[in-house]
Amino acid sequence: MTSERDIAAMRVPYNDDNSVFTESDLVSMEPFANFRHWFEQACQSKSVVEPNAMSLATASKEGRPSTRMLLLKGFDERGFKFFTNYNSRKSHDLDENPYASMMFYWDTLKKMVRIEGSVEKLSEEESSEYFQSRPRCSQISASVSQQSSTIPNREALRNDYEAALKKYEDESIPVPKPESWGGYVLKPERVEFWQGQTTRLHDRIVFRKPAQGETIDPSVTHQGDNGWLYERLAP
Ligand SMILES: Cc1cc2nc3c(=O)[nH]c(=O)nc-3n(C[C@H](O)[C@H](O)[C@H](O)COP(=O)(O)O)c2cc1C
Repeated sequence: MTSERDIAAMRVPYNDDNSVFTESDLVSMEPFANFRHWFEQACQSKSVVEPNAMSLATASKEGRPSTRMLLLKGFDERGFKFFTNYNSRKSHDLDENPYASMMFYWDTLKKMVRIEGSVEKLSEEESSEYFQSRPRCSQISASVSQQSSTIPNREALRNDYEAALKKYEDESIPVPKPESWGGYVLKPERVEFWQGQTTRLHDRIVFRKPAQGETIDPSVTHQGDNGWLYERLAP
């Protein structure tokens, strides 16, 4: 006998009306400090297991999107950094179409952040510095994985890993960063902060850069700091 799960009926309560996200909760009139504030809340919350996990969406030059989970590895006034293999599918997309969208969802906080912008490679120095900070087993895995390529089976991967383990068994010798491995920075042009409400009257405040020659409607769009505008979106 098959028992059907009633997916359509699945829902959990979010925040109630005593806990809304309003413009007065913004810690700054630009997105970076607000991201830092929410990210810190996520890091301090015991219920968020991997606060720097996010999805990254890219699109091919034909406009075909794909998404995957990644780990954020830093952010500063330049943007949001992640590391990967430059021959991977995402990197092929970014070679052809250097724009991406990043999304964090901290489900127990009912908070989501969406970040969109252009993507650039980090310098070799920055990529090498991060690579050398990784656990040795991660360095070895990165050096044997031609990420996103087809391989015959797990054994082939394991054999390459074992061979590399042997090659780098002298731990005083650093594992060299593969040429095809490195970082990117996503430079935000639009950052949305979303907080979920049980009523589905969710809060959405977006910071964005103005379009060229845009005339601002002050009843809905407000001047922020450092060239950012901010506005509230309907849920
Ligand atoms: C939580 C989580 C974190 C991940 N972090 C990374 C990462 O930082 N870098 C990376 O290249 N892949 C990471 N992956 C694997 C990617 O999701 C993906 O499988 C891989 O990058 C290949 O994607 P692509 O073929 O679309 O390029 C992570 C997966 C999960 C589930």
